Amino acid sequence: MRVLVLTGAGVSAESGIPTFRGKDGYWRNLDPARLATPEAFEKNPKLVWEWYRERRQRIRNAQPNAAHEAIANLAQHAHEFLLITQNVDDLHARAGLPKEKMVQIHGDIFLTRCSRCDFGFTERKHEHEHEHEQEQEEEEENVVPRCAKRDALMRPGVVWFGEQLPWNEVQRVEGYLGGGVCDLVIVAGTTATFGYIIDWAMRAAAPNGELIEVNPEETPLSQFATRLVREPAAIALPRLVDQLVAQPPEL
Ligand code: APR
Repeated sequence: MRVLVLTGAGVSAESGIPTFRGKDGYWRNLDPARLATPEAFEKNPKLVWEWYRERRQRIRNAQPNAAHEAIANLAQHAHEFLLITQNVDDLHARAGLPKEKMVQIHGDIFLTRCSRCDFGFTERKHEHEHEHEQEQEEEEENVVPRCAKRDALMRPGVVWFGEQLPWNEVQRVEGYLGGGVCDLVIVAGTTATFGYIIDWAMRAAAPNGELIEVNPEETPLSQFATRLVREPAAIALPRLVDQLVAQPPEL
């Protein structure tokens, strides 16, 4: 089977990570314009860093749930597989999903990069280790880190509102979609707020692939789905994947 999975914050909700627009979602109490835009960072980098460090800590204390594990299991059994996640947490990776089978289209919260140059991006491993010690100190003092090369401000490696999607990652998505129709597309835990999520899901499933939406609530994508599963992802996805692995559909 050729499979595409798209996920959003709802998949990490059962790991204790708030969604954005759901009940108690981040955007219910906090103003994204004050925390998740380049302008907000320009205006008050300290406040922005405080919020992202808080989120990093919450994610470090969280564990992948059965939905993340089911997706990693599906990736192992599918002939071809790609996950496109909007989540900046590392729970899909910690559930065992290899990096080459995943695209974090909105970035990675644990990456720190220069707001001017691309420092901090390439030597991920080294940079991460380096960052960790330094980060501990900076976290305690809530210091805004500065780029060793350009002395510009360092920022979390995520995509903010009004910013372009990372070009390399979009190319990876287009490459996978260009590789042929998917027999199965699963969209789980997202309000599908952004048009590209609906576009990628529909292009992958067209003309007659299965498009399954897993979400307790209706979304703009629901009308295009061939199957709606109105249940929490950590309940629905393990069952769905076990069924698929036990009885792969005739193709
Ligand atoms: N299982 C499945 N779906 C769930 C669960 C659950 N346990 N709990 C909530 N949901 C659904 C909600 O019904 C909602 O449709 O998950 C969705 C969460 O939607 P959002 O909070 O809008 O999150 P997401 O779609 O990932 O947001 C997209 O917007 O704020 C930006 O960059 C941010 O990546 C994020 C993007």
